[in-house]
Amino acid sequence: MVTDVAKICRTFHHCGAVIISPFHLLTTAHCLWDYRDTTGIYYVRVGDNVIEVLDDEEQDFDIEKIDFHEEFGVGPYLNNDIAVVHIKRTGVSGGIRFGNKVGPACLPPRDLFLSPAINLTVSGWGKNGYDQPQRQKGTNFVSKLNMAVVPVIQRATCKEEKVYGPEKISLGMFCAGLLEGGPDTCQGDSGGPAVAFLRLAKFHETRATLVGLTSWGYGCGRENKPGVYTQVSAIKWTL
Ligand code: ARG
Repeated sequence: MVTDVAKICRTFHHCGAVIISPFHLLTTAHCLWDYRDTTGIYYVRVGDNVIEVLDDEEQDFDIEKIDFHEEFGVGPYLNNDIAVVHIKRTGVSGGIRFGNKVGPACLPPRDLFLSPAINLTVSGWGKNGYDQPQRQKGTNFVSKLNMAVVPVIQRATCKEEKVYGPEKISLGMFCAGLLEGGPDTCQGDSGGPAVAFLRLAKFHETRATLVGLTSWGYGCGRENKPGVYTQVSAIKWTL
């Protein structure tokens, strides 16, 4: 998602999102909550790779409305961090055109069991690091879509005192990354996908299945402070 400040030519990356239909995307509620009365300054860009370049299949859409989870922020910090973005239906537009580089993610089955053995692919234009001094200058979002692979961390482990403790990780969240520190999502990656390449019995093949949305973390890539993701299969939401 991109913001178009005062509709001038220059726009900025804001947050990630995940296409789930030609007219709908999922993102994290915290990305847009503070701007819920001025969502007109945002638009959706799909098919982007290098921010400054008009990529193949790149398409922009205005936002019609955003449905925030009714219990966003109720309970632990950033609980139920999910929102549905509806794109404007204008004229003949059939919504997002799917192609080789643009497509929807499969939604997870309700009973998805997140085993710690699952590797998730996370991606976005977020910062490459949180602790470097360069973070003082501007946003430091990267210009080319970046990705990393992070393993799911057992819930009990993530709730240990030395990690996030017992209170912060709700049932609608899960942790992923390495406890020794290392690959992680970071500021600017929020709302973007954590997908698993799962073999879905229904299709008899492997598909990118949306498991999580990048939500929060203490710093990025720090020891014992893994990334926390919205667990899409565990939260009630409707289109
Ligand atoms: N809240 C961040 C955002 O708005 C995402 C932070 C993820 N942090 C992490 N250590 N994985 O972009």
